[in-house]
Order: sequence, then structure tokens, then C-alpha cells
Amino acid sequence: MKVTKINLINFRNYSKVNISLCNNMNIFVGDNAQGKTNMLEAIVILALTKSHRIGFNPNIIMFEKNKCKINGTIKKNKIITKLGIEITEKEKKHFINNNLIKRVSDYISNLNVIVFTPDDLEIVKGSPSVRRNLLNIQLSQISSEYLKTYNEYNKLLKTRNEYLKILFNNNIADINYLDIITDKLIEKAIFIYQKRKEYIDLVNVNFNKIFKEISGTSGIAVKYVTNVDFLDFDYETIRKKLKHIFKKNYNKELNYGMTIYGPHRDDFYFDLLNNDLKYFGSQGQQKLAILSFKISEISIFKEISGYSPVLLLDDIFSELDIKKRNRLLKLINIDDVQSIITTTDLKSINKKYIDNAYIFCVKNGQIERK
Ligand SMILES: Nc1ncnc2c1ncn2[C@@H]1O[C@H](COP(=O)(O)OP(=O)(O)O)[C@@H](O)[C@H]1O
Ligand SMILES: [Mg+2]
Repeated sequence: MKVTKINLINFRNYSKVNISLCNNMNIFVGDNAQGKTNMLEAIVILALTKSHRIGFNPNIIMFEKNKCKINGTIKKNKIITKLGIEITEKEKKHFINNNLIKRVSDYISNLNVIVFTPDDLEIVKGSPSVRRNLLNIQLSQISSEYLKTYNEYNKLLKTRNEYLKILFNNNIADINYLDIITDKLIEKAIFIYQKRKEYIDLVNVNFNKIFKEISGTSGIAVKYVTNVDFLDFDYETIRKKLKHIFKKNYNKELNYGMTIYGPHRDDFYFDLLNNDLKYFGSQGQQKLAILSFKISEISIFKEISGYSPVLLLDDIFSELDIKKRNRLLKLINIDDVQSIITTTDLKSINKKYIDNAYIFCVKNGQIERK
């Protein structure tokens, strides 16, 4: 899929912008604080309805305005879809072909994106919730069933936690009701575990190859870490193990007043030659691992959803030496993949990789194509 047009009204430092993008590489060049990340963020919000920015505040509406609009035209093969998001201080509205869409789950997946930002170092360094969040966003884009199941899981989790507190305080409460919730929760948990495992296995198919192509180093893999150990990820194995764990730890969970086992406690890490990159990798290696992870996701999205996702890469060249910058560009020059890149400069970039690219200059909330 491709984003062919973007227009913004009162979005951050853009009062009005209309641009057309090309099907391959689009590069936004500009000094700091000119609006490069803001442009990328607008496309992320158009795709996912939420910003990817860490510490994001709802203040994406231009200062002193009360409404902002993001509109985009998306092309999938020959089909054209118009997506729109309108945000006021009070609410957010989603439109597909000018029709108001009530449920976010009906909106998401019209535009699939893979985003890389400098904040992504948190994927290596940050808490497990950052990594779970990434898995959830990616799986939700390619599987509406995942998004649905994940939401149901969270509702059941909340109910179960509340009921554990009730049981703790009230000894005539019905313990059978807890079993009913637990069984329902296990059903959803199995699905989530299986999807995440399948996804990480798919990432690993190309991950090491891509990492080697950019960094020159081999021996990297993503390791899925569940907080319950499973010998296998088939339905019965997971179900039996969870049933056993919940039974065995009933008193512990009762005392904590919460569910301490399940995919809401999942994690993964990057393993480079049997070391966790979090503790042994340089910042450059960590950045390359995350970039390689994201590039590995392209073919998974394509296989599962039928369309190539749009690749959004914010400030990708910083901290990369000349050789790696060019290797990276070579890698993302994939025929049917649209990429949208931001950078402060194109110094030392081999012209042959950006020959057909659209290059935009970003200056103080204005965008001009070169
Ligand atoms: N709600 C807003 N209204 C107006 N300007 C904003 C708003 N939010 C952020 N900005 C401005 O956007 C600029 C930063 O843009 P950004 O896209 O992050 O820059 P960069 O080009 O370095 O990626 C800053 O000048 C900031 O003041
Ligand atoms: Mg920026």
C-alpha cells in the first residue's frame, strides 16, 4: 500500500500542507525543529489513530487553534481509500471515504505502517511494556482478530483482578466464579501467546540476514520470553500449563489481588551471540538491531495482510557511519515498498540510491518539493 497524498490542517507547526508522495522513497530534509517528525507523526496517527511518540501529549493541535485535521489518500493496488482524522480537545473522529467510523478496530488496518524513530532505543533499553506494546501494535495491524482478542483479554484480566480482591475480602464470595473467569482468560491468553510466538518466529526468518547486511555482524535473534515456561506453544500444552499455574498460585494471586501469570507479563529481547543486547550492545548496535527488526517485518506484513506496509523512518542516519547509511538505503530500496524518511542532511549518501526519490525541504512548517 502507498500513501499518495497527505494534507494537514492545524497539525502541530503545520497550519496548512498539501503534498503528493511517490510510490518509492520520499525524503524529508530539514534542520532541527522544522517539522520533519511532525509530518511522520501525522502519518502514524492516520494509520494507527494514535501517535507513536513517547511522552506524547494530546497537544498535537496547533497552538491557539481548537481543531486539527489529517487527511490522506491511500492506494492498495488500484483501490483508492480516503482516510481522515479530526481531533479537537474533546474528541477524535475517524473517517473512511468521508464516512464516520465509530469503532477504532474498523478503522485500523486500512493503512499499515512500520515506524522507526530515535525513541525506539527504548525497545532495547526500556521496560517490557515497551516491547509488548510494539508486538500489540504490529499484530493488531495485520490481524483484527488479534486486536479483538487482546481487548477481550484485558477486560477479563480487569474482571479477574477485581474478583480476586473481592475473594480476599469476602469469604462467602463464590470461588467457582473465579474459575469461570480464569477459563475464559486462558482461552484468550492461548491465542495471544500463539500469535506472538508465530510473529517472532517469522521475524527471525530474515532478522539475522538483514542485521548482517547493515552491520556486518552475524548471530542475532529475537528471543520470546513468556513468564510461564511452555515446552511447546500448541493449544493443549499452554492450556494445561496455565490451568496448573493458576491452581498452584491461587493463594499468591489472592494475596497480591492480581493476576500475575499470562501474556500481559510477556517480554522479548535481542540476543547477539548469546548475550542480551540490552547489556552488551553498543548504542549503534542496538539501533541497527531495531532497524533490522523493523525491516524484517515488511515481508511478514505483506504475507499476512497481502500488502506491503509503508515504512516510516525518522532521523535514520544519525549515529550511522557512511557505509551503514548507504547499506541501509540499499536495503530499503525494495521495489514495491514505499518509504518515508526524515533526515537533517543527505551528506555522503550515494546518489544511486536516491535517484528516483522525492525530496522535500521542510522549513518552519512549510514543505516544498525539490
Ligand atoms: N501544537 C503545536 N503547535 C505549534 N507548533 C508545535 C506544536 N507542537 C510542536 N510544535 C513545534 O514543532 C516543532 C518541532 O517539530 P519536529 O517535527 O519535532 O521537528 P524536527 O524537524 O526536528 O523533527 C517545534 O518547533 C515545536 O515548537
Ligand atoms: Mg525530529
